[in-house]
Amino acid sequence: MSKKVVLAFSGGLDTSISVSWLKKKHNLDVITTIVDIGQDENFDEIEKKAYSIGASKHYTIDAKQEFINNYIFSAIKSNALYQNKYPLATALGRPLIAYKLIEIANQENTKIFSHGCTGKGNDQARFDITLRSVMPDAKIIAPVRDENMSRDEEIQYAKDFNVSIEKKSQYSIDENLWGRSIEGGILEDSFEEPPKDIYKWVDVDSSLADKYIEIDFNNGIPVSIDGIADSLEMITHLNDVAGKYGIGVVDHIEDRLMGIKSREIYEAPAATVLIEAHKDLEKLVLTRNELEIKSLLEQKWSWMIYSGLFVDPLVKAIDSFINKTQERVNGTVRLKLKSNSLTVVGRKSENSIYDQNLSSYSSSSDFNQTYSKGFIEIWGLQSKFNEGETK
Ligand code: ARG
Repeated sequence: MSKKVVLAFSGGLDTSISVSWLKKKHNLDVITTIVDIGQDENFDEIEKKAYSIGASKHYTIDAKQEFINNYIFSAIKSNALYQNKYPLATALGRPLIAYKLIEIANQENTKIFSHGCTGKGNDQARFDITLRSVMPDAKIIAPVRDENMSRDEEIQYAKDFNVSIEKKSQYSIDENLWGRSIEGGILEDSFEEPPKDIYKWVDVDSSLADKYIEIDFNNGIPVSIDGIADSLEMITHLNDVAGKYGIGVVDHIEDRLMGIKSREIYEAPAATVLIEAHKDLEKLVLTRNELEIKSLLEQKWSWMIYSGLFVDPLVKAIDSFINKTQERVNGTVRLKLKSNSLTVVGRKSENSIYDQNLSSYSSSSDFNQTYSKGFIEIWGLQSKFNEGETK
């Protein structure tokens, strides 16, 4: 009896030829596994395809709620944007998929894994590091990377060995609840405007009447949007509504883990709206010092997730700090959607440390202006040493 391998399967080119490769070159029984984290796919068709190209067993695992609770919510609390732009949809999904592969491997009694990642991207790090953090002696076979295959060689392999590859898009697309990542083809020319046909969620020609939405947050996570309280519905609703308003496209020149610069387009309407709203509410309830340190840690958190180190102890340590700050991130944010623009137009919170009475120029308040004169005298003390210098 052959040994078994658990392959992270999407039905795309890389993972389809991997099925054949693992059987032919490694003599393994291939157990294909697809994890549903909100990609809009026909999972029955993918299962059929897996069997038709030689899988011996196939699993479809619904992990949408787990993705929201354990990954997306942390990303919102961390205002996670890699290089201040990319909401990390693909990067957040990978460790979860890896954990699910481990569950299947335990069930099937094997320690052999496979994925379709190339050696140029970040996903290989996310899979390998997460798998080995749980199973240090895992054997990982990544045919495309290990054989140094180009996309054209993969297509040739598929032809030679009769692996059906019906999806012939020039783009490489990864999709889940938190966003769509699109790269390849004409997009590789960094000066070329993305053609409209790449977009699925965002209407870049939107022309709709203005609309307001309100988002309630509790401990830093959204609990109600337009009267919807279910988190999965909230996210799909926002992807739909904000997408129709043309919101959430990110055109990014990105630094990959391996040092390569790449050009990627993201569609992330829900992520864009939620992070914008969350950041705004934090400004109402957190102190200047908290905001300053938090923003440094957010960048570090985003880098750790991006670079495959989701399992690193530092991530948990940063999470602890962030969760502490989120105890006060309760309240409501009002946003105005205009075609192709998003603006926060109001925010309120029971934990607000904004004091209208203090900040107002019109009311006489408890603030004694006369103290300011002395404070500034001392505050600017060292600046006097530059006396005589002019700009
Ligand atoms: N650059 C993004 C990341 O590393 C997305 C990678 C996957 N993109 C894709 N189009 N298949 O997280």
